[in-house]
Amino acid sequence: MRLVVGMAGSSGSIYGARFLRALAQMPGTSHLIVSPPAIRVFREEYQTKVTKAEDVLDFCLTKWGEIHSKHTFLIRPHADIGADIASGSNVWQGMVIVPSSMKTIASVRAGLAENLIERCADVSLKERRRLIFVPRETPYNRIHLQNMLALDEAGAIILPASPGFYQNPTSLEDLGDFIAGRIFNLLGVEHELFPKWTPKPGT
Ligand SMILES: Cc1cc2nc3c(=O)[nH]c(=O)nc-3n(C[C@H](O)[C@H](O)[C@H](O)COP(=O)(O)O)c2cc1C
Repeated sequence: MRLVVGMAGSSGSIYGARFLRALAQMPGTSHLIVSPPAIRVFREEYQTKVTKAEDVLDFCLTKWGEIHSKHTFLIRPHADIGADIASGSNVWQGMVIVPSSMKTIASVRAGLAENLIERCADVSLKERRRLIFVPRETPYNRIHLQNMLALDEAGAIILPASPGFYQNPTSLEDLGDFIAGRIFNLLGVEHELFPKWTPKPGT
């Protein structure tokens, strides 16, 4: 598995954190890009002192019990629009932006590529590769909705950070895992983050 994972500065750090933690338990090599606003939001949401992408990854691998990663994470500088993955000549299976801000959605919709997350998203669209946005905002204004529709029309998938409750989550981590699992489903990757839905007899 070879993915590009972007974390942008929206609320919902838990979705990115649980996705990275689950990915760490799968073999493969992925690129990780974390925007400065994402680090800022991460600090707010976890009341932690993270200052860089490495800290965020380390937090995800230790917060809920330390795990040894089977996955190789290549942490790429957010501002490095000259990185190898800024070019379509480098191939990856899919890209996920989890969580995604409305600003990153707007930039990609407009074709801007001012940082490495936006550039890789732009490359994903032009190379017709799977691109998944996990937006977190409420309520949506018309501009948000139009931007998301345009991205869907361009081939991206909008996977809103809206976990289901029918599997009776009992923790924030369960909610994060629900969204992480849905991302893996869209990437065609088997996981055990939640059981497949089976209706209970008599309900
Ligand atoms: C604590 C905090 C929470 C935020 N939550 C959201 C959010 O849920 N959705 C959103 O679109 N932007 C949110 N923002 C604003 C973005 O961080 C801001 O638009 C930023 O420019 C996004 O940049 P990026 O997409 O390059 O990471 C939040 C900012 C802060 C400081």
